Amino acid sequence: MSSNQKKVMLSAIQPSSQLTIGNYIGALRNWVKLQENYDCIFFAVNLHAITVRQDPKMLLEQTYRAIATYLAAGIHPEDAAVFIQSQVPEHTELAWILTCNSYMGELNRMTQFKDKSAKQGANIPAGLFTYPVLMASDILLYDTELVPIGHDQKQHVELTRDIAIRMNNTYGKDLFKVPEVYIPPVGARIMSLQDPTAKMSKSDPDVSSAIYLTDTDDQIRKKLKRAVTDSGTEITDDDTKPGIRNLLAIQSSLTGKSIPELVLSYAGKQYGHLKLETAEIVVQAVAPIRNRADELMSDRAYLDSVLQRGAEKARVRAQRTLKRVYDRMGLVSPQGRA
Ligand code: TYM
Repeated sequence: MSSNQKKVMLSAIQPSSQLTIGNYIGALRNWVKLQENYDCIFFAVNLHAITVRQDPKMLLEQTYRAIATYLAAGIHPEDAAVFIQSQVPEHTELAWILTCNSYMGELNRMTQFKDKSAKQGANIPAGLFTYPVLMASDILLYDTELVPIGHDQKQHVELTRDIAIRMNNTYGKDLFKVPEVYIPPVGARIMSLQDPTAKMSKSDPDVSSAIYLTDTDDQIRKKLKRAVTDSGTEITDDDTKPGIRNLLAIQSSLTGKSIPELVLSYAGKQYGHLKLETAEIVVQAVAPIRNRADELMSDRAYLDSVLQRGAEKARVRAQRTLKRVYDRMGLVSPQGRA
Protein backbone atom coordinates (compact mmCIF):
# COMPACT_ATOMS: atom_id res chain seq x y z
CA MET A 1 0.00 0.00 0.00
CA SER A 2 1.44 3.42 -0.86
CA SER A 3 1.70 5.87 2.00
CA ASN A 4 -1.10 8.10 0.72
CA GLN A 5 -3.60 5.21 0.86
CA LYS A 6 -2.72 4.38 4.44
CA LYS A 7 -4.43 5.92 7.44
CA VAL A 8 -2.45 8.48 9.43
CA MET A 9 -0.97 7.44 12.78
CA LEU A 10 0.58 10.22 14.87
CA SER A 11 2.17 10.47 18.29
CA ALA A 12 4.74 12.47 20.24
CA ILE A 13 6.73 12.59 23.48
CA GLN A 14 7.80 15.60 25.55
CA PRO A 15 11.59 15.97 25.82
CA SER A 16 11.22 17.43 29.32
CA SER A 17 13.68 14.84 30.65
CA GLN A 18 15.12 11.56 29.40
CA LEU A 19 12.49 9.09 28.19
CA THR A 20 11.47 6.27 30.56
CA ILE A 21 10.46 2.66 30.05
CA GLY A 22 6.92 3.94 30.72
CA ASN A 23 7.19 6.03 27.54
CA TYR A 24 8.68 3.05 25.72
CA ILE A 25 6.16 0.42 26.83
CA GLY A 26 3.10 2.69 26.81
CA ALA A 27 3.86 4.45 23.53
CA LEU A 28 7.09 4.22 21.50
CA ARG A 29 7.14 0.45 21.29
CA ASN A 30 3.65 0.42 19.84
CA TRP A 31 4.55 3.07 17.26
CA VAL A 32 7.29 0.72 16.06
CA LYS A 33 4.96 -2.29 16.02
CA LEU A 34 2.15 -0.51 14.15
CA GLN A 35 4.22 1.65 11.79
CA GLU A 36 4.16 -0.66 8.73
CA ASN A 37 0.42 -0.34 8.34
CA TYR A 38 0.15 3.44 8.70
CA ASP A 39 1.28 6.72 7.22
CA CYS A 40 3.28 7.80 10.29
CA ILE A 41 4.07 11.13 11.91
CA PHE A 42 6.25 11.17 15.05
CA PHE A 43 7.79 14.22 16.66
CA ALA A 44 9.36 15.56 19.85
CA VAL A 45 7.09 18.16 21.48
CA ASN A 46 9.56 20.73 22.77
CA LEU A 47 6.83 23.41 22.83
CA HIS A 48 4.87 21.22 25.23
CA ALA A 49 7.97 20.80 27.39
CA ILE A 50 8.25 24.57 28.00
CA THR A 51 4.90 24.63 29.82
CA VAL A 52 7.20 24.23 32.81
CA ARG A 53 10.57 25.99 33.04
CA GLN A 54 13.38 24.18 31.18
CA ASP A 55 17.11 24.73 31.08
CA PRO A 56 17.69 25.72 27.39
CA LYS A 57 20.86 23.65 26.95
CA MET A 58 19.30 20.56 28.48
CA LEU A 59 16.09 20.99 26.54
CA LEU A 60 18.01 21.08 23.26
CA GLU A 61 20.05 18.00 24.16
CA GLN A 62 16.98 16.07 25.35
CA THR A 63 15.07 17.00 22.21
CA TYR A 64 17.74 15.48 19.98
CA ARG A 65 18.02 12.53 22.32
CA ALA A 66 14.27 11.88 22.01
CA ILE A 67 14.57 11.82 18.20
CA ALA A 68 17.65 9.57 18.40
CA THR A 69 15.68 7.26 20.70
CA TYR A 70 12.75 7.04 18.26
CA LEU A 71 15.15 5.92 15.54
CA ALA A 72 17.10 3.62 17.87
CA ALA A 73 13.85 1.93 18.92
CA GLY A 74 13.10 1.13 15.29
CA ILE A 75 11.12 3.99 13.72
CA HIS A 76 11.92 4.15 9.99
CA PRO A 77 12.75 7.74 9.07
CA GLU A 78 12.52 6.96 5.33
CA ASP A 79 8.80 6.21 5.75
CA ALA A 80 7.63 8.23 8.75
CA ALA A 81 7.84 12.02 9.05
CA VAL A 82 10.14 12.50 12.06
CA PHE A 83 10.69 16.06 13.29
CA ILE A 84 10.68 18.51 16.20
CA GLN A 85 7.43 20.35 16.95
CA SER A 86 9.03 23.82 16.81
CA GLN A 87 10.22 23.13 13.23
CA VAL A 88 6.59 23.21 12.05
CA PRO A 89 5.10 26.56 13.15
CA GLU A 90 1.65 25.53 11.88
CA HIS A 91 1.22 23.61 15.18
CA THR A 92 1.10 26.85 17.18
CA GLU A 93 -0.90 28.62 14.48
CA LEU A 94 -3.74 26.10 14.56
CA ALA A 95 -3.49 25.95 18.37
CA TRP A 96 -4.70 29.57 18.60
CA ILE A 97 -7.72 28.84 16.44
CA LEU A 98 -8.57 25.79 18.53
CA THR A 99 -8.09 27.79 21.74
CA CYS A 100 -10.87 30.11 20.53
CA ASN A 101 -13.08 27.02 20.12
CA SER A 102 -12.30 25.42 23.49
CA TYR A 103 -14.00 26.07 26.80
CA MET A 104 -12.41 26.98 30.13
CA GLY A 105 -14.66 24.38 31.79
CA GLU A 106 -13.41 21.47 29.70
CA LEU A 107 -9.76 22.48 30.16
CA ASN A 108 -10.35 22.79 33.89
CA ARG A 109 -11.43 19.16 34.00
CA MET A 110 -8.09 17.84 32.69
CA THR A 111 -6.59 15.73 35.46
CA GLN A 112 -3.04 16.30 34.24
CA PHE A 113 -3.54 20.07 34.56
CA LYS A 114 -4.79 19.61 38.12
CA ASP A 115 -1.76 17.44 39.03
CA LYS A 116 0.86 19.58 37.31
CA SER A 117 -0.51 22.95 38.41
CA ALA A 118 -0.61 21.77 42.02
CA LYS A 119 3.21 21.49 41.86
CA GLN A 120 3.69 25.05 40.56
CA GLY A 121 2.94 27.14 43.65
CA ALA A 122 1.32 30.55 43.14
CA ASN A 123 2.44 31.22 39.57
CA ILE A 124 0.90 28.63 37.31
CA PRO A 125 2.02 29.15 33.69
CA ALA A 126 -1.04 29.72 31.44
CA GLY A 127 0.55 27.29 28.96
CA LEU A 128 -0.06 24.43 31.41
CA PHE A 129 -3.77 25.21 31.18
CA THR A 130 -3.96 25.50 27.37
CA TYR A 131 -1.47 22.67 26.71
CA PRO A 132 -4.14 20.10 25.69
CA VAL A 133 -5.25 22.49 22.93
CA LEU A 134 -1.73 22.47 21.47
CA MET A 135 -1.91 18.68 21.59
CA ALA A 136 -5.27 18.79 19.77
CA SER A 137 -3.63 20.97 17.14
CA ASP A 138 -0.75 18.45 16.76
CA ILE A 139 -3.30 15.75 16.04
CA LEU A 140 -5.88 17.61 13.92
CA LEU A 141 -3.31 19.21 11.60
CA TYR A 142 -2.63 15.92 9.83
CA ASP A 143 -6.08 14.27 9.48
CA THR A 144 -4.90 11.73 12.05
CA GLU A 145 -6.95 8.55 12.49
CA LEU A 146 -4.95 6.76 15.20
CA VAL A 147 -3.05 8.11 18.21
CA PRO A 148 -1.04 5.44 20.07
CA ILE A 149 -0.53 6.60 23.67
CA GLY A 150 -0.41 5.47 27.27
CA HIS A 151 -3.43 5.72 29.54
CA ASP A 152 -2.59 9.17 30.96
CA GLN A 153 -3.05 10.89 27.58
CA LYS A 154 -6.48 9.42 26.86
CA GLN A 155 -8.36 12.37 28.32
CA HIS A 156 -6.44 14.76 26.05
CA VAL A 157 -7.37 12.80 22.93
CA GLU A 158 -11.00 12.76 24.06
CA LEU A 159 -10.84 16.55 24.34
CA THR A 160 -9.31 16.64 20.83
CA ARG A 161 -12.29 14.64 19.56
CA ASP A 162 -14.73 17.00 21.29
CA ILE A 163 -13.08 20.07 19.75
CA ALA A 164 -13.01 18.43 16.29
CA ILE A 165 -16.68 17.45 16.45
CA ARG A 166 -17.67 20.90 17.71
CA MET A 167 -15.80 22.67 14.91
CA ASN A 168 -17.12 20.23 12.30
CA ASN A 169 -20.64 21.09 13.45
CA THR A 170 -19.92 24.80 13.20
CA TYR A 171 -17.74 25.05 10.08
CA GLY A 172 -18.63 21.99 7.98
CA LYS A 173 -18.58 18.33 8.83
CA ASP A 174 -15.35 17.31 7.10
CA LEU A 175 -13.22 20.12 8.50
CA PHE A 176 -11.34 17.75 10.81
CA LYS A 177 -10.93 14.00 10.97
CA VAL A 178 -11.99 12.73 14.41
CA PRO A 179 -9.10 10.60 15.79
CA GLU A 180 -9.20 7.29 17.67
CA VAL A 181 -6.80 6.23 20.44
CA TYR A 182 -4.70 3.09 20.60
CA ILE A 183 -3.92 2.11 24.19
CA PRO A 184 -1.97 -1.14 24.72
CA PRO A 185 -3.83 -3.90 26.63
CA VAL A 186 -0.89 -4.31 29.05
CA GLY A 187 1.60 -1.60 30.06
CA ALA A 188 -0.55 1.48 29.42
CA ARG A 189 0.23 2.66 32.93
CA ILE A 190 3.68 1.68 34.21
CA MET A 191 4.00 2.73 37.84
CA SER A 192 6.79 4.40 39.83
CA LEU A 193 9.32 1.93 41.24
CA GLN A 194 9.33 3.87 44.52
CA ASP A 195 5.57 4.40 44.83
CA PRO A 196 3.66 1.82 42.82
CA THR A 197 0.40 3.72 43.35
CA ALA A 198 1.74 6.65 41.27
CA LYS A 199 2.55 6.71 37.55
CA MET A 200 6.20 6.37 36.51
CA SER A 201 7.01 9.88 35.34
CA LYS A 202 10.07 11.27 33.58
CA SER A 203 9.78 14.47 35.64
CA ASP A 204 9.75 12.71 39.04
CA PRO A 205 12.57 14.33 41.06
CA ASP A 206 13.41 10.91 42.55
CA VAL A 207 15.44 9.33 39.73
CA SER A 208 15.21 5.90 41.36
CA SER A 209 11.46 5.91 40.68
CA ALA A 210 11.94 5.54 36.93
CA ILE A 211 14.08 3.58 34.51
CA TYR A 212 15.35 5.91 31.81
CA LEU A 213 16.23 4.72 28.34
CA THR A 214 19.68 6.24 29.02
CA ASP A 215 20.32 4.20 32.21
CA THR A 216 23.31 1.84 32.28
CA ASP A 217 22.74 -1.89 32.80
CA ASP A 218 23.93 -1.51 36.39
CA GLN A 219 21.60 1.38 37.12
CA ILE A 220 18.68 -0.65 35.76
CA ARG A 221 19.58 -3.64 37.92
CA LYS A 222 19.98 -1.50 41.04
CA LYS A 223 16.69 0.34 40.54
CA LEU A 224 14.73 -2.86 40.04
CA LYS A 225 16.42 -4.54 43.00
CA ARG A 226 15.27 -1.62 45.18
CA ALA A 227 11.78 -1.42 43.66
CA VAL A 228 9.16 -1.01 46.39
CA THR A 229 6.94 -4.05 46.90
CA ASP A 230 4.81 -5.13 49.85
CA SER A 231 5.77 -7.27 52.79
CA GLY A 232 4.17 -10.50 51.48
CA THR A 233 5.96 -13.32 49.71
CA GLU A 234 3.57 -14.79 47.15
CA ILE A 235 3.72 -13.49 43.59
CA THR A 236 0.13 -12.77 42.54
CA ASP A 237 -1.59 -10.19 40.35
CA ASP A 238 -3.97 -8.36 42.66
CA ASP A 239 -4.90 -4.89 43.91
CA THR A 240 -3.14 -5.36 47.24
CA LYS A 241 0.22 -5.82 45.48
CA PRO A 242 0.64 -2.85 43.13
CA GLY A 243 4.45 -3.16 43.12
CA ILE A 244 4.36 -6.83 42.10
CA ARG A 245 1.63 -6.12 39.57
CA ASN A 246 3.82 -3.41 38.03
CA LEU A 247 6.80 -5.73 37.62
CA LEU A 248 4.55 -8.37 36.07
CA ALA A 249 3.14 -5.78 33.64
CA ILE A 250 6.66 -4.68 32.63
CA GLN A 251 7.70 -8.28 32.00
CA SER A 252 4.49 -9.16 30.23
CA SER A 253 4.70 -6.28 27.80
CA LEU A 254 8.38 -6.82 27.04
CA THR A 255 8.18 -10.61 26.60
CA GLY A 256 4.67 -11.03 25.18
CA LYS A 257 3.88 -13.60 27.92
CA SER A 258 0.48 -13.13 29.54
CA ILE A 259 0.23 -12.10 33.22
CA PRO A 260 -1.48 -15.40 34.29
CA GLU A 261 1.29 -17.31 32.51
CA LEU A 262 3.93 -15.32 34.39
CA VAL A 263 2.15 -15.73 37.74
CA LEU A 264 2.09 -19.48 37.16
CA SER A 265 5.80 -19.56 36.34
CA TYR A 266 6.57 -17.76 39.63
CA ALA A 267 4.60 -20.18 41.83
CA GLY A 268 6.69 -20.94 44.91
CA LYS A 269 9.34 -18.32 44.00
CA GLN A 270 10.32 -15.20 45.95
CA TYR A 271 9.94 -11.50 45.14
CA GLY A 272 13.71 -11.44 44.65
CA HIS A 273 13.41 -13.80 41.67
CA LEU A 274 10.82 -11.60 40.04
CA LYS A 275 12.92 -8.47 40.51
CA LEU A 276 16.08 -10.10 39.20
CA GLU A 277 14.43 -11.58 36.13
CA THR A 278 12.53 -8.38 35.38
CA ALA A 279 15.83 -6.50 35.56
CA GLU A 280 17.43 -8.78 32.96
CA ILE A 281 14.45 -8.45 30.64
CA VAL A 282 14.54 -4.65 30.95
CA VAL A 283 18.33 -4.59 30.37
CA GLN A 284 17.84 -6.62 27.19
CA ALA A 285 15.21 -4.19 25.95
CA VAL A 286 16.94 -0.94 26.93
CA ALA A 287 20.65 -1.65 26.18
CA PRO A 288 20.38 -1.83 22.36
CA ILE A 289 18.21 1.30 22.25
CA ARG A 290 20.58 3.22 24.54
CA ASN A 291 23.68 2.13 22.59
CA ARG A 292 22.19 2.93 19.19
CA ALA A 293 20.88 6.30 20.45
CA ASP A 294 24.42 7.08 21.75
CA GLU A 295 25.80 6.43 18.26
CA LEU A 296 23.14 8.54 16.59
CA MET A 297 23.78 11.40 19.04
CA SER A 298 27.35 11.60 17.81
CA ASP A 299 26.12 12.07 14.22
CA ARG A 300 24.18 15.31 14.52
CA ALA A 301 24.40 15.94 10.76
CA TYR A 302 22.50 12.73 10.09
CA LEU A 303 19.85 13.57 12.70
CA ASP A 304 19.49 17.06 11.22
CA SER A 305 19.01 15.62 7.74
CA VAL A 306 16.24 13.31 9.02
CA LEU A 307 14.59 16.23 10.83
CA GLN A 308 14.84 18.56 7.87
CA ARG A 309 13.20 16.03 5.59
CA GLY A 310 10.54 15.16 8.17
CA ALA A 311 9.68 18.79 8.88
CA GLU A 312 9.40 19.62 5.17
CA LYS A 313 7.02 16.71 4.58
CA ALA A 314 4.97 17.68 7.63
CA ARG A 315 4.77 21.39 6.73
CA VAL A 316 3.26 20.76 3.30
CA ARG A 317 0.50 18.72 4.90
CA ALA A 318 -0.02 21.05 7.84
CA GLN A 319 -0.32 24.07 5.54
CA ARG A 320 -2.97 22.28 3.51
CA THR A 321 -5.11 21.70 6.62
CA LEU A 322 -4.59 25.22 7.91
CA LYS A 323 -5.63 26.73 4.57
CA ARG A 324 -8.86 24.70 4.76
CA VAL A 325 -9.50 25.99 8.29
CA TYR A 326 -8.74 29.64 7.40
CA ASP A 327 -11.02 29.47 4.36
CA ARG A 328 -13.92 27.90 6.26
CA MET A 329 -13.66 30.42 9.09
CA GLY A 330 -13.51 33.51 6.91
CA LEU A 331 -9.88 34.20 7.79
CA VAL A 332 -7.51 35.44 5.11
CA SER A 333 -4.75 32.84 4.95
CA PRO A 334 -1.08 33.52 4.17
CA GLN A 335 -1.79 32.11 0.68
CA GLY A 336 -4.71 34.55 0.16
CA ARG A 337 -8.44 33.88 -0.24
CA ALA A 338 -9.71 30.61 -1.70
P1 TYM B 1 4.44 12.34 27.64
O1 TYM B 1 5.70 12.93 27.09
O2 TYM B 1 4.11 12.60 29.05
O3 TYM B 1 4.48 10.78 27.42
C1 TYM B 1 4.77 10.22 26.15
C2 TYM B 1 3.97 8.95 25.95
O4 TYM B 1 4.30 8.00 26.95
C3 TYM B 1 3.12 7.57 27.63
N1 TYM B 1 3.47 7.36 29.04
C4 TYM B 1 3.28 6.22 29.70
N2 TYM B 1 2.77 5.05 29.33
C5 TYM B 1 2.72 4.05 30.25
N3 TYM B 1 3.16 4.21 31.53
C6 TYM B 1 3.68 5.38 31.94
N4 TYM B 1 4.11 5.52 33.19
C7 TYM B 1 3.77 6.46 31.02
N5 TYM B 1 4.22 7.73 31.10
C8 TYM B 1 4.02 8.27 29.89
C9 TYM B 1 2.14 8.72 27.45
O5 TYM B 1 0.82 8.28 27.62
C10 TYM B 1 2.46 9.17 26.06
O6 TYM B 1 1.80 8.37 25.09
N6 TYM B 1 1.02 15.47 25.77
C11 TYM B 1 1.79 14.28 25.49
C12 TYM B 1 2.65 14.41 24.27
C13 TYM B 1 1.92 14.83 23.04
C14 TYM B 1 1.19 13.97 22.17
C15 TYM B 1 0.73 14.84 21.12
C16 TYM B 1 0.88 12.62 22.17
C17 TYM B 1 1.89 16.09 22.54
N7 TYM B 1 1.19 16.10 21.37
C18 TYM B 1 -0.03 14.34 20.08
C19 TYM B 1 0.11 12.13 21.13
C20 TYM B 1 -0.35 12.99 20.10
C21 TYM B 1 2.70 14.00 26.68
O7 TYM B 1 2.97 14.86 27.46
O8 TYM B 1 3.21 12.74 26.70
